[in-house]
Amino acid sequence: MSITIPANITVERTQKSRIQDVNFGSLEFGTVFTDHMFCCDFKDGKWQDARIIPYGPMSISPAAKVFHYGQAVFEGMKAYKDDNGGVFLFRPEENFKRINKSSKRMAIPEFPKELFFGAMHRILEMDKEWIKPGIGNSLYIRPFAMATQVGVSASPANEYRFYILLSPAQAYYTGEVKVVFSEHYSRAADGGVGFAKAAGNYGAQFYPTNLAKEKGFNQVIWTDSHTHEYLEEAGTMNIFFRFGDTLVTAPTSDRILDGVTRKSLLKLAEHLGIQAEVRSVKVSEVKEAYKNGELMEIFGAGTAAVISPISAFSHNDQTYDLPVLADSYASMLKQKLMDIQYNRSEDPFNWRHQVC
Ligand code: COI
Repeated sequence: MSITIPANITVERTQKSRIQDVNFGSLEFGTVFTDHMFCCDFKDGKWQDARIIPYGPMSISPAAKVFHYGQAVFEGMKAYKDDNGGVFLFRPEENFKRINKSSKRMAIPEFPKELFFGAMHRILEMDKEWIKPGIGNSLYIRPFAMATQVGVSASPANEYRFYILLSPAQAYYTGEVKVVFSEHYSRAADGGVGFAKAAGNYGAQFYPTNLAKEKGFNQVIWTDSHTHEYLEEAGTMNIFFRFGDTLVTAPTSDRILDGVTRKSLLKLAEHLGIQAEVRSVKVSEVKEAYKNGELMEIFGAGTAAVISPISAFSHNDQTYDLPVLADSYASMLKQKLMDIQYNRSEDPFNWRHQVC
């Protein structure tokens, strides 16, 4: 894809870079931001005033609709640097399409493609020193849009702001990932917004996740809201199960995010000759497979989390520990995926998008 940077993106550079103050060897996910950010306002029926400015606080009225009705959507993407200093995005078209799909569901005006890619290229070129080479280092990119119109009437805003923030990142999960299969709470329902990266989808998970944390678990695997019998996704990741030699993941739906990592792994599995099925997975099937030794591994897949093996799951107050496999699908797929992302291998699917 050839990118033209729209001439109407203005740039104000920071007076003093903060990069020297950052310890790139020890980054807590999502806590450090680069020198610049992109923003653009929607007013009078159009996106305008596209600008790259120094990263910093913004001024916004406490009556802005985003604070009252959660009218906001976001994306998660990453940029990677290869050993020659080349900077790459991974399937950015997918994120672009998805943020507009999320926006549509949340009655937020869609964002223009040339501005999205133009801004992305420009800001990544400006802040590329913040991307460190080496497997495991990346730049997490957080585009988001929110309702800025002042007023607490419960209706869609007529003013919005779109941002792109950049955050140097390492691992999302640092230790073991232990999960609880949800028996009571739900993340999403049919006809709802579960498929969208709507801000409130994430906030609504915090309370049940805190309850899981009190019991020593890190995440909840959400089950279907009707019966709690089917395993859906983890909120920060889609979920894969390996029964024998077969990899299984739930189909996307109104309730499940169409994860970019999820669909990339399905393609990679096919390419590597790993049998993969997209079908509903029952809690009872997983427990049965655990008992008869068929459940080999469970792992989560997402942009931030990459591929995170699950070390234990809990259901009905019983914990099931999973063995650490030397030759897991999780590690094999992660290696293949990262080789593509970091420009260390061929890219048979044309997923890499070079920025500079
Ligand atoms: C991502 O993987 O980019 C996500 O959106 C998960 C996030 C909530 C950290």
